[in-house]
Amino acid sequence: MTDSADRIIDDHRFIRQQLQKLESATRSDEAAELLAELSPIMSEHFKAEEEPDTGLYAIVGEAGPQHNRAIDALFAEHRDLESAVAELQTLLGERADHPLGPLGNKVKDFVSQLRQHEANETELLSVAANDDMGAAD
Ligand SMILES: [Fe+2]
Ligand SMILES: [Fe+2]
Repeated sequence: MTDSADRIIDDHRFIRQQLQKLESATRSDEAAELLAELSPIMSEHFKAEEEPDTGLYAIVGEAGPQHNRAIDALFAEHRDLESAVAELQTLLGERADHPLGPLGNKVKDFVSQLRQHEANETELLSVAANDDMGAAD
């Protein structure tokens, strides 16, 4: 596997850990702090995945064009996830150090959305790695 694939997988591990913390946050300042930490890393990660020469197209594309549509859908989700973070940050900022209350559900929705996204990517990377090995036989 290439260095960039390793980096993407490392990022996924970090993002998973961060999401676990975010999921158990009970106060808005706590959630806001975790999101402030996660948000730039998430955006950098998306950028790395979208990089034509080293990102998902380069890694998964070697296995063939059959995954192109899945990659495009993942890139579209990046934009949705970035909007979701921005919206959450605004809402959390308005609540200072209050209990999360009804915002807790919004935080949990975001956590599941990003978790599912990264899990789909991890799955795609392993399918592509298998395709690749099959092609080399
Ligand atoms: Fe992604
Ligand atoms: Fe990812």
